Amino acid sequence: MSTTFKLDTSTSRANPTPQPMRRLTVPKIRNRKVDGVTEEPLVMLTAYTARQAQLLDPHCDLLLVGDSLGQVIYGLPSTIPVTMEMMTNHAAAVVRGSYHSVVVVDMPFGSYETSPEDAFDSAARLLKESGAAAVKLEGGEAMAETVEFLVKRGIPVMGHVGLTPQAVNVLGGYGARGRSDAEAEKILGDAKALEQAGAFAIVVEGVIEPIAISVTMAVECPTIGIGASARCDGQVLVSDDMLGMFDRVPRFVKRYEDLATTISETAAKYAAEVRDRSFPGPDQLYQPK
Ligand code: KIV
Repeated sequence: MSTTFKLDTSTSRANPTPQPMRRLTVPKIRNRKVDGVTEEPLVMLTAYTARQAQLLDPHCDLLLVGDSLGQVIYGLPSTIPVTMEMMTNHAAAVVRGSYHSVVVVDMPFGSYETSPEDAFDSAARLLKESGAAAVKLEGGEAMAETVEFLVKRGIPVMGHVGLTPQAVNVLGGYGARGRSDAEAEKILGDAKALEQAGAFAIVVEGVIEPIAISVTMAVECPTIGIGASARCDGQVLVSDDMLGMFDRVPRFVKRYEDLATTISETAAKYAAEVRDRSFPGPDQLYQPK
């Protein structure tokens, strides 16, 4: 994929503010899968800040402002306490930091489950206040009516099945799902219900591989795997996991870098130079002309 931004300075009512390049759109993402085949897998990473978005955007098709920001940014024990304010603020930063990817924002726990109407209010607020293009919500069959309600009213929805972290208190932990026939059937039914309701893509998280493959073959819209299968139509990881910001990561994460060590060693160098007064040096100081 080209990472060169093209300058498009022509204005129109559909494009009133000149953009460096045209963003991908939700229909383009949905239509990456044709007749059950996705030739070029979808690339999604989480992003929470403008600078992180700038760095990830040229390499991704989608940026997910995940409610994982609860743990990653705020040090919370789960995604349960994440608020609408957190999601709108971080999503707006990610939109400001990106030009290319479709930005999807997670609906936080408690903002959509009570009724389709409540979900519409929350989703509309997320999109209005952030400029993101779509929302993601967790749950399958139980959420199908809500997904249909949102999509029919102009809000693109990404589904999320399998291990759904907002349900951690019901599930009892973050273990892989789909090991029993009943669980496997439920996950498949959930995915089909979401696609019929109009979800443009479905995250399949933490399920045994055969189930991820069955779901991918069963639904027309793209599946995006995390702890699922390379045969999903795309993949997502929490960027901070992938970059090695945490010491321990789940089995499904590949640490492509060890940024935690880089940051810690760099801070140690700075601290040593402050303490031995070698920083600031002549290059960092202003002198009288
Ligand atoms: O919140 C999040 O980051 C997510 C991804 C792990 C899919 O939902």
